[in-house]
Amino acid sequence: MAWMLYGVTGYTGKLLLDEAIQRGHRPLIAGRSEEKLKPLAEAYNVEYVAFGVDAAAERLRGLGVDLVLNAAGPYLYTGAPMMDACLHAGAHYLDITGEFPVLEAAFARDAAARERGTLILSGVGFDVVPSDCLARYVADKLPTATHLEIVVDVLGAGGLDSGASAGTLKSMIEMSPQGGRTRRNGTLVPVDFGAEARRFRMTDGQDVLTMAIPWGDIVTAYHSTGIPNITTYMRLPPFFIAYAQRFGFLLIQSGRSAVIRSTMKKLIDRFVPGPSEQRRRTARSYVYARATDASGNEAEAWLDTLEAYALTAKTGILAVERVLEGGYRGAQSPAQAFGADFILQLESTRRYDTL
Ligand SMILES: NC(=O)c1ccc[n+]([C@@H]2O[C@H](COP(=O)([O-])OP(=O)(O)OC[C@H]3O[C@@H](n4cnc5c(N)ncnc54)[C@H](OP(=O)(O)O)[C@@H]3O)[C@@H](O)[C@H]2O)c1
Repeated sequence: MAWMLYGVTGYTGKLLLDEAIQRGHRPLIAGRSEEKLKPLAEAYNVEYVAFGVDAAAERLRGLGVDLVLNAAGPYLYTGAPMMDACLHAGAHYLDITGEFPVLEAAFARDAAARERGTLILSGVGFDVVPSDCLARYVADKLPTATHLEIVVDVLGAGGLDSGASAGTLKSMIEMSPQGGRTRRNGTLVPVDFGAEARRFRMTDGQDVLTMAIPWGDIVTAYHSTGIPNITTYMRLPPFFIAYAQRFGFLLIQSGRSAVIRSTMKKLIDRFVPGPSEQRRRTARSYVYARATDASGNEAEAWLDTLEAYALTAKTGILAVERVLEGGYRGAQSPAQAFGADFILQLESTRRYDTL
């Protein structure tokens, strides 16, 4: 079956292309810049096609692809048009977003995707595959759960040493005016940056300081577990949390200025190379999930897995392979589509019930 990798010219797009080629795929590569695509297509000996997301609906129909993996972000700009183009063309849509409004936009298209017999599967990267699988796992252990907490720790190894790609930082800049979110009684509600700073014991045995951030699970875990109260936390340096508590409002306000966002994105493009190959090979990521119910029962689990971008390349292509096997439709989360054990397919990935 033919599939397309869109946004292949970015940091993560190239990792996905490498992984796809290594696993024997020959995707049609795509993006908005012919100038960048041409040398890439020559180097990998694959076909390419150049078009912007606004032209996707028109261009996709004629290409005969069965699936699009969209690696072009910020997804606030690329997600909805590419989802709609896929629906129009009758192709499956996958992406690696963690932006909660985009994940909501994906689930809002559930009925349309069912009708078309296609799948919309957002979040097949680090945000949200490991946490979604762990959320589903603890929810299955405690079917009466009313509350779910998820913690993501990518600081463990290497500190802030280029742990994020330019694309991730640019997506965070675009998302900053939205502020924080948590899920209460089934509804997403605003939460201040730095609020709910808490310590959790992580997979490496350390008690780490975290703060609530709007990780994609506030949308996806609601669909994969049905639990109505969900808060997602990230381990961050204590000085950063203290700063967010005092000045988080400034971050939101400055993010509302298109000029400031554009300046910051230019600086990021110039100065952020993304995680080194060494870091992708050696750093680890940790995830924790705890489900609790009204009687005080709880179920918890920890995950120790690959560095976030190395993981994204692998789960992205594994997801493509699963979907191409057939039988999927509607809008789903990764754990809904593939089950809680999907993440355990990755090498050196371990899940623990106790530490
Ligand atoms: N869920 C996860 O764990 C995870 C992991 C990795 C990345 N991501 C997300 O994936 C996205 C890409 O990350 P990255 O590190 O690869 O970023 P990047 O290096 O900045 O690359 C961005 C890619 O998107 C394309 N693009 C940007 N805006 C576009 C638009 N309006 N229309 C068409 N194409 C557009 C760029 O095309 P040009 O080359 O032509 O500019 C480039 O191919 C980000 O949103 C990031 O947050 C998520």
